[in-house]
Amino acid sequence: MRDPKQPKQRRASHAGAARHLVDKLRKHAAWLLLLWFVLSVYLFLSATPPANAPLRPAFLPSKHRTLSATTASAPAPPVRIYVYDLPSRFNRDWVAADARCSRHLFAAEVALHEALLSYAGRAARPEDAELFFVPVYVSCNFSTVNGFPSLSHARGLLAEAVELVRRQMPYWNRSEGADHVFVASHDFGACFHPMEDVAITDGIPEFLKRSILLQTFGVQGTHVCQEVEHVVIPPHVPPEVALELLEPEKAQRDIFAFFRGKMEVHPKNISGRFYSKKVRTELLQRYGRNRKFYLKRKRYDNYRSEMARSLFCLCPLGWAPWSPRLVESVLLGCIPVIIADDIRLPFPSVLQWSDISLQVAEKDVASLEMVLDHVVATNLTVIQKNLWDPVKRNALVFNRPLEEGDATWQVLRELEILLDRSHKRYFGSWRR
Ligand SMILES: *[C@@H]1O[C@H](CO)[C@@H](O)[C@H](O)[C@H]1NC(C)=O
Ligand SMILES: *[C@@H]1O[C@H](CO)[C@@H](O)[C@H](O)[C@H]1NC(C)=O
Ligand SMILES: *[C@@H]1O[C@H](CO)[C@@H](O)[C@H](O)[C@H]1NC(C)=O
Ligand SMILES: *[C@@H]1O[C@H](CO)[C@@H](O)[C@H](O)[C@H]1NC(C)=O
Repeated sequence: MRDPKQPKQRRASHAGAARHLVDKLRKHAAWLLLLWFVLSVYLFLSATPPANAPLRPAFLPSKHRTLSATTASAPAPPVRIYVYDLPSRFNRDWVAADARCSRHLFAAEVALHEALLSYAGRAARPEDAELFFVPVYVSCNFSTVNGFPSLSHARGLLAEAVELVRRQMPYWNRSEGADHVFVASHDFGACFHPMEDVAITDGIPEFLKRSILLQTFGVQGTHVCQEVEHVVIPPHVPPEVALELLEPEKAQRDIFAFFRGKMEVHPKNISGRFYSKKVRTELLQRYGRNRKFYLKRKRYDNYRSEMARSLFCLCPLGWAPWSPRLVESVLLGCIPVIIADDIRLPFPSVLQWSDISLQVAEKDVASLEMVLDHVVATNLTVIQKNLWDPVKRNALVFNRPLEEGDATWQVLRELEILLDRSHKRYFGSWRR
């Protein structure tokens, strides 16, 4: 069952290389046969599944795992995911109502959905699927007062979507939702609340507890809001940010250490918690007058141009450990300096965060300058070179349509790993 509302150009799109070839075909008809031959061989080879194609959950017949040679244009992870075609009030209406919806820091819920719709390897029919994507946008009810999205309707909207899917199709009941995938892209992910104490009290909605959550929130150790099968994803940053840059390696980086964002001089005690665990306040106190540090508290829309001018970009925790700065820094060639002790970062196997970033313990803010000076004296260029690896940069952006190696592609890869692990752990049936 194809989504009838899927834009034509997305459905038809292949990798850039293939598109380019098609353009050439028009101009040079004489080469038509030869090029088509080459293209077919390329498509065939790249779509051939690996010899050791992993096992599937036992409730699905194994023939479905084989990739058809006519689908994917890139060797995409062979996970067959079906995208529910929910009524537009669950998703598209939000984008139509406010353009911020598909671009802001929580827009992974939109980007992943659109990218999956453009993914040639997805399951067109639910009976062929091993996973089911439920596209509900919950982060787009922007407050008219402060512009922040209200999450108050999130649980209700998700519950409605689950009810619909459960009533109309047999797949939810078959696994009690265990093979269903949701996005929770805001602070404290699956708990669907922006304040940690409330998030923990509310917990993960009962109806989602057996499903798979794609969430930006991730910490080491246990946390109520990640007690669910999940994949940590990067915050959403528009992919074109990476292109805003003028020759990054050569760009003059005249700012040593940069931070722009909320830094309270006198942090408030909000039910026993302090914003950023007071780390940002300490940064301001210690380095606010240090000329090597460019620390600003005011909003400035063009802050990314400042990041592109900086050697180090400080990424201290806020309420949650993550912020879009993590991705923006990498895209803009500024070394992220992560100050968030328990953070769990996305796609560790591809990104090897210790190669491209620095981690400074929250208690060590006092020695931050010394650490950065030491890096400048020793391995600065090594880190910068690692940072400029296109594979790593690509893994952090959600392209629409999906591109090989990008964030959506990495999500599919992680889902594939989850599927295989679940199969091994729960021999006989999926997650029982
Ligand atoms: C959006 O948020 C406001 C404020 O929290 C709320 O009153 C309103 O009902 C929400 N809208 C929807 C459609 O849930
Ligand atoms: C799934 O189970 C629920 C509750 O047990 C039931 O109401 C619903 O009709 C079932 N769905 C299908 C498609 O049979
Ligand atoms: C913060 O407020 C809580 C009560 O909400 C109180 O128990 C705690 O001692 C306060 N902490 C500090 C450091 O003032
Ligand atoms: C660079 O040096 C610092 C110590 O100053 C070390 O912690 C870090 O792991 C090094 N990074 C790389 C990529 O070599």
